[in-house]
Parts: sequence; structure tokens; C-alpha cells
Amino acid sequence: MQWNQLQDTCLKMQLYYSATIQEYRQFEHLIWIRLVAPPLARTVRPGQFAMISQRQTHSLDPLLRSAVFFAGADPNSGTLELLIDPRDPTLTRLVDLPEGTILDLGVPSVNTCTINPTTQTLLLAGVGSTLPALVFLARRYAGKLNVSLLMAGDDGFVPPPFLLPTTVEVQISSAGASALFDLLTTTTDQNPLRWADQIVLGLPSLFVSRAASLIRTTRLRWDHGLVQVILAGSLPCGLGICRVCQIETRQGWQRRCVEGPVFDLRDLRLPA
Ligand code: FES
Repeated sequence: MQWNQLQDTCLKMQLYYSATIQEYRQFEHLIWIRLVAPPLARTVRPGQFAMISQRQTHSLDPLLRSAVFFAGADPNSGTLELLIDPRDPTLTRLVDLPEGTILDLGVPSVNTCTINPTTQTLLLAGVGSTLPALVFLARRYAGKLNVSLLMAGDDGFVPPPFLLPTTVEVQISSAGASALFDLLTTTTDQNPLRWADQIVLGLPSLFVSRAASLIRTTRLRWDHGLVQVILAGSLPCGLGICRVCQIETRQGWQRRCVEGPVFDLRDLRLPA
């Protein structure tokens, strides 16, 4: 990438914000952080992520950052929430931070989740590092739409239901990430995949083909806009430079950190 292209990329984004840790709590395998950053809390959307580093005036590597999806934002209080798996080696620099710590957040202006005005029933389902983005979506549309949230993982990183409004129907399996497909298929006569007006999945790319075949066998029609996927995976630079995060789509190879991380499932080129 040329220097002027990098400048263009940076200019397209409102890149950098300062955020102060107001509250830090660690549950068994989950860290919950509330940050104060009023300008960002007013604009952030579900599906957006932050490239986070601690503010270090003498850092020799200011680009070394941890990518984390936002789990919530409250424009009135100017706060944002993060949920972090302390076992994730890319997030260790965010563990054990005292309240009052100032973080630098790079927040690219990316493709986020779009909920249609006609949608009444919204199914959210996912695993791993994209779960905070689904929690954010569930909170944003709770009470306005019928929202179901299915989450699977191991004993560790599954956000607890008490973080969600009571109007959100939550199902959790801690039998591993693959158990998400059991949650999606066990109730055959009331299968949520059949009735949802829109579906948002949070998945690593390795699960995407399986999810697509499940939807293909469940829905008579599968139009553009029915299923969005927030794709998980490492984001080393988060700026569109390293191309580690590429995924093949019908429009060619695209970067999750620039053209994603939210894609329409129909736009992804899936292995046969
Ligand atoms: S993370 Fe480097 S190009 Fe996307």
C-alpha cells in the first residue's frame, strides 16, 4: 500500500479516541470493562470493533493493538462496554488494568449490522470473540423487536444472561462452539431459523459453510439481506494494510477490517 493510500484509509475513519476505564470486573473467564468516551459512545454501532492499546507516551510500537468488538454503548452516560476473554493471547495487554487507566482506541468506520425497518423478529447466534457484538445488537433492539440470542462456547467466554434485558430470549450452551448448531436445530418445530425476519451470525470463517447449508435446508427462500455474518478472526493491523484478514467474496478478496467485518452471507464464496 502506498503512503497516500494509507492516508486515505486513515482519513476515511474517525480513527483515534481516548477512553478511561471507569469499572473493571473479572468473572471466572470473562472480563467486563466499562469505558468513558462520550464522543465514541454517541456514534458506535453494533458490529464495530476497536483496536486498543494502553496510552504509552514512549511506546516504540504504537500499532501493536488488541482487536475487541464493542458489547454496548450508552450515549447518555457517554460509556461503552467491552467483554474480554482473559485467555485470549491477543488480549493479555488488557488484563488486570486498574480503573482510571487511559486507553487509545482506534475505531475504523467499518461495515456494521443493518436491521431493516420491516424486521420484527431477529435471531442472533454466535460463538467466540464476536459474541460481544451480538450482545450489543440484542441490547439495542430489545423491547423494539422480538430478539432471540443463541450463544455457544466452552466453560469460559460466554456472556452471562444478566448482561441482557429480560425481553431478550437467551439460550446458552457451554458444550463447545459446535454446540451452536445443536441450539439452532434441536427445536425442529419452532426452529428459530424458520421464522426470523433477519438473522445475524457471529462466527469464525470455518463455521460459515455449515451455517449456510443449515439455512439452505431450513428456509424455502433465502434472499439477500436475510443473513448477515460478523466474521471473527485475527486482525493484526486493523487498517487494511497486512491483508491477513482477507476472505473470498463474490466481489473478490476483501478485508474483514475494511470491507467487513459484517458481510451478507450470500456475498461470501463458500467452499463447495
Ligand atoms: S487486519 Fe490487516 S488488513 Fe485487515
